[in-house]
Amino acid sequence: MKKIVILTGAGVSKESGLDTFRDANGIWAKYSMEEVCTPEGFKKNPEKLQEFYNKLRKDLPKVQANAAHIALAALEKSIEQKEIDVELLIVTQNIDDLHERAGSQNLYHMHGELYKLWCTACDAKIEWHQDCTIHTPCSHCGQHKLRPDIVWFGEMPYYMDEIQEALLSCDLFVSIGTSGVVYPAAGFVQLASSAKAKTIELNLEPSAGTSRFNESRLGPATQLVPEFVQQVLKGEI
Ligand code: APR
Repeated sequence: MKKIVILTGAGVSKESGLDTFRDANGIWAKYSMEEVCTPEGFKKNPEKLQEFYNKLRKDLPKVQANAAHIALAALEKSIEQKEIDVELLIVTQNIDDLHERAGSQNLYHMHGELYKLWCTACDAKIEWHQDCTIHTPCSHCGQHKLRPDIVWFGEMPYYMDEIQEALLSCDLFVSIGTSGVVYPAAGFVQLASSAKAKTIELNLEPSAGTSRFNESRLGPATQLVPEFVQQVLKGEI
């Protein structure tokens, strides 16, 4: 059985209409990373930080999964139906739900999810689709200690043990639509390589880690990902 681990980043959702972080006009050109993506920013001005995520939460239903998300979900379906002898894990840095909406199930959100809140008083994780303010009470404990369930800079991403195990035993690692500057995800290619996996990058432009991949294919995700999936389905890769 061939084991494939796929890492996705903001570039996979770009053609759905969601901004990436580091492209010109990306999120970090419009917002301060320190204010909206660090524990210190939350401590200093929780309202401002919550407003940022409230806006993202409001905008998310306006966009749809694109051909890249759909192709990856179709690959998972073919595996489920035993059309090919492959094991697939998708690890996404994205906090949107477009992989799920396309139908992917075997998926880790290593940087958290926009539609979840985390109560820092009772540790509950709550599904949440509305605005959240400093006055929103936790539905479990009633305290006002909710924060977005997002991994901020300086915090430990989720599922790291599971992801590391999958990387160290995979045959193929594919990175899609990520600039390769944020660790630990940026280091996944080296982990997979150390396990002798083939590594492929699918990105609009060379990422910071391009030279570490066996192969780099440049172009939009909606074109490259369906092509890649076809190759896997045909056993060409
Ligand atoms: N198809 C493929 N790749 C694309 C497309 C597209 N249509 N559009 C943009 N890209 C590429 C860009 O060229 C860039 O290399 O996607 C990458 C996006 O990079 P970033 O904006 O840095 O996003 P990402 O790598 O996901 O960021 C990692 O940084 O701020 C944090 O927590 C945030 O999860 C995020 C992490």
